[in-house]
Amino acid sequence: MQQWTVLGICGSLRQGSYNAALLRLAERTTLETRFIGCDLAGQLPLFNPDMEEDTPNLPAAVREFRACADQADGLVIATPEYAHGPAGVTKNAIDWLIGSGGIMNKPTLLLSASPGQAGGMRAQTPLMPTLTLLGSILVDCVVVSRAAARVAENGEFHDATVAERMKLAMGEFTDALRHSSHKKAT
Ligand SMILES: Cc1cc2nc3c(=O)[nH]c(=O)nc-3n(C[C@H](O)[C@H](O)[C@H](O)COP(=O)(O)O)c2cc1C
Repeated sequence: MQQWTVLGICGSLRQGSYNAALLRLAERTTLETRFIGCDLAGQLPLFNPDMEEDTPNLPAAVREFRACADQADGLVIATPEYAHGPAGVTKNAIDWLIGSGGIMNKPTLLLSASPGQAGGMRAQTPLMPTLTLLGSILVDCVVVSRAAARVAENGEFHDATVAERMKLAMGEFTDALRHSSHKKAT
């Protein structure tokens, strides 16, 4: 079976994060993908173009994150919604990938979860112009409302509707990986 390498970006630093749980659900939904770098977005410094110009001295977390992005065939981004926009951690991670090119023209799946009724969908919309500018191939996103009621005691999503929605999204995502120009699956 082909296995695609996927960069996971989680925009939450919170212990017990619903978005981190959603990213883990994406990861275990299909054996066709192997997720890397899922814990790195929170370790990145704030994006600064001056640091970017000093390539040999880039912080280790940035180098590792960019290497993961270069290696990845696609991206899955799980972002919280703060004040009707995306978490700064999410946008910061994307900013670090603009100059390196690791995000360019790759299939990308956006996820969000929130205890509220909109499920964090307003965090996704402002990211879309940036991602499409970078050539991302966006597949249908997953939005999970009332997240608190849908996770089990162990913090993982147990809700059958959420699992089914993720299965459909990951199916579309892996189709996009198959049809993208990268085709590096092993
Ligand atoms: C400062 C702040 C602003 C928030 N704004 C929103 C919002 O606009 N919409 C929403 O659905 N949830 C909002 N929330 C609730 C978050 O969606 C909730 O904390 C969520 O659990 C964050 O994601 P995480 O579980 O992955 O950390 C906000 C939370 C904080 C702390």
